[in-house]
Amino acid sequence: MKEIRNIVILTGAGVSAESGIDTFRSAGGLWEQHRVEDVATPEAFERDPELVLRFYDMRRARIQEVEPNAAHQALARLDAEWKGGLLIVTQNVDDLHERAGAGRLLHMHGEHLNAWCLSCDGRHRWYGTLIDRPACPACGIAGRMRPDIVWFGEMPYRMHEIYAALNRADLFVSIGTSGAVYPAAGFVREAREQGVRTLELNLEPSQGSHWFDESRHGPATEIVPAWVDQMLRQQQY
Ligand code: APR
Repeated sequence: MKEIRNIVILTGAGVSAESGIDTFRSAGGLWEQHRVEDVATPEAFERDPELVLRFYDMRRARIQEVEPNAAHQALARLDAEWKGGLLIVTQNVDDLHERAGAGRLLHMHGEHLNAWCLSCDGRHRWYGTLIDRPACPACGIAGRMRPDIVWFGEMPYRMHEIYAALNRADLFVSIGTSGAVYPAAGFVREAREQGVRTLELNLEPSQGSHWFDESRHGPATEIVPAWVDQMLRQQQY
């Protein structure tokens, strides 16, 4: 097997599920509790900003009540000890990867703990609420801040960096994602076309399982630390 030096890891809601954060599409998941059209599109924000701001205020408060789990910690350890290239591309908008210590990390769908001012385009670390229409810390204008979340129909962040990393990769690993949402769900095929080895780590087969060279199924807190141990044991330089 070709030596593995550069790794790209895609994570989804499944990596945070065991920390107590709902996933989107599992039974009783977020998209069963709320209609995407009501809370996760620019049109929804236009139509009913209160409903949208209340939804994200609740989510922003929730992530501050939970802790990173063994899967986040294992990926942070890989980040610290892997001498080759590594990029963790997360679809998650929580800060559990960072709190576990991961540094080579990219949030492609935004972050709950950022507020985005539509007047000055500034982004600000935000732990409180937005429903009370606070003033922007930079431009001072009140009521123009929205959650810094990539909604359906909006372009994910830093796509050039992601594709550049996939082009350099020897291994692409997808963890805790259903493969239901593009462009993230297309990364495995992009990687395959580049001759990159592909591995899925998920509770159950995802919608894109058939594209992967290998799939391992089980809870992230079990299969991710085992995979990281294996990678660090095999590290050749
Ligand atoms: N360990 C491993 N995998 C898990 C676990 C677990 N404990 N619990 C659930 N999973 C898996 C599920 O089997 C499922 O395949 O995680 C996946 C979660 O899928 P989704 O809920 O669809 O979440 P995700 O793939 O991250 O959604 C992608 O869709 O709603 C949008 O922007 C949002 O980033 C999100 C994107």
